[in-house]
Amino acid sequence: MSRIAVLISGRGSNMRAIVEACQDGTVDSTVVAVISNNPNAGGLDFAREQNIDTAVLDHKQFDNRHVFDSKLKTLIDSYEADWILLAGFMRILSSDFVNHFLGRIINIHPSLLPLHPGLNTHAKVLAAGDTKHGATVHFVTPELDAGPIIAREECAVLPNDTEQTLAERVLQIEHKLYAEALQRCVNGDARLVNKTALP
Ligand code: GRF
Repeated sequence: MSRIAVLISGRGSNMRAIVEACQDGTVDSTVVAVISNNPNAGGLDFAREQNIDTAVLDHKQFDNRHVFDSKLKTLIDSYEADWILLAGFMRILSSDFVNHFLGRIINIHPSLLPLHPGLNTHAKVLAAGDTKHGATVHFVTPELDAGPIIAREECAVLPNDTEQTLAERVLQIEHKLYAEALQRCVNGDARLVNKTALP
């Protein structure tokens, strides 16, 4: 069974959805570690309750990105993780780190990539007057939010939507989409070949 490490920085609701999908058999894997760069990340409590190993690597305790990424890489490797999931992990990762895990590190992003990479996607959707919004799961490459897309799901933007209502609607999609996309990776249906996500 595949071993999964999930990286979080905050609430961890996507991590929770992945843990539950592994527990109910939607995903044929087990979450072996939840790692946070933020000692106060709410998601750590859930992971502990589930008896999942947790680790905190507080980026503020490291001199620079290179040292932090190198420690994080060693930590993940110590869990012999097959798949590394970024789930609200709010750190930019260096090329060395990403390339070490290339093809088995994936991210969920709250927009229909390539639209609206980066932060504040719900505000960007409203400012652009978009009529559609959604979420994307993609392979992580060194370019931020630009890796080959594994899965996307859309929702409508409604006339009275606010950042809050959009965030809630998209989050529901994220929880389902991440587990589905992960399962396709785990069973080999989706894979990164020559910088492209197949099929
Ligand atoms: C999610 O919308 C995720 O896509 C984004 O940050 C949010 C994290 O939420 N990168 P959670 O910590 O998984 O609840």
